[in-house]
Amino acid sequence: MRGGSFCNLNRRTAQRLKQLAVISAGSVKVKLLLLCAVGLVYILLAGRPSVFSGRSPYVSSADRFAQYRTGYTILMNTWKRNDLLKQSISHYTTCGGLDSIHVVWSEPDSPSESLKNFLNRVIELNSRGGRRVELKFDINKEDSLNNRFKPIDDLKTDAVFSIDDDVIFPCSVVEFAFDVWRSAPDTMVGFVPRIHWLDHSESGVDRYRYDGWWSVWWTGTYSMVLSKAAFFHKKYLSLYTNAMPASIREYVTRNRNCEDIAMSFLVANATGSPPIWVKGKIFEIGSTGISSLGGHSEKRSQCVNRFVAEYGQMPLVSTNVKAVDGRGSWFW
Ligand SMILES: *[C@@H]1O[C@H](CO)[C@@H](O)[C@H](O)[C@H]1NC(C)=O
Repeated sequence: MRGGSFCNLNRRTAQRLKQLAVISAGSVKVKLLLLCAVGLVYILLAGRPSVFSGRSPYVSSADRFAQYRTGYTILMNTWKRNDLLKQSISHYTTCGGLDSIHVVWSEPDSPSESLKNFLNRVIELNSRGGRRVELKFDINKEDSLNNRFKPIDDLKTDAVFSIDDDVIFPCSVVEFAFDVWRSAPDTMVGFVPRIHWLDHSESGVDRYRYDGWWSVWWTGTYSMVLSKAAFFHKKYLSLYTNAMPASIREYVTRNRNCEDIAMSFLVANATGSPPIWVKGKIFEIGSTGISSLGGHSEKRSQCVNRFVAEYGQMPLVSTNVKAVDGRGSWFW
């Protein structure tokens, strides 16, 4: 069986390459190149038989997570975008390892019956093999960005996957990030890296600058991962709400910004370590995307400098480490 499907695949690949060769026939160089390509494909396939035999230990994520006692909880922040909320919940309820979804709800009106009915139907559809994802709306009276980090009493999992309603990651990517988090459960593990730089010193006080994606991309360095898509331990929810200086929470509420930077400071101060950036394809289903590609960094820099003053030092630690799924890379 194993050999059979393996050979078929090779033969099909070879046939397709031969067709290609026919199309571009005429040039000896092209043919030579194609020959090399076919040879390379053979070598690669021969080296990775388990991928094609259906016997890979990673084939079924449901099986894979059945052995773990608990999975993770999604903490989803939403604001007046029911269509996006429906889309992302429909997606994430298909992911293995997901235990429950908590929707952080800060709108003046309660979630409508039709929205609840829709989401319950989605969960019904995606329930398999005795697994049923739990869905809860955490209703907040006050509209503050701190709401997204309120502790949840009956959380069954240690792992929290904090995510905005408008970002979608393939399940395999989420599960990989969860794996990374389980090997470093005190650390923030996320998909959206950001960096701070020492800008200059003003009469003995260091002034910092916050920089977005381009700076991270250019330097390969980061010191934060944003809570719009990150795993962290649930203990940081109560630390944020009950132990972090109230002045930081007030600053966040007043400025309607920087709750994610505040969380990065909190975790960095608690661990003395940098976060971990996980490589992953991101799909933004909303269409704003202003903040994701830089810009607006003046306000963010102010937050960084304000929080440094609160902590009495700069707790963020920079790093160049990037976690990559080994199964996705063809060369070691
Ligand atoms: C930072 O961490 C230290 C050591 O754990 C702790 O004593 C301190 O309260 C923390 N600072 C803030 C502002 O939370």
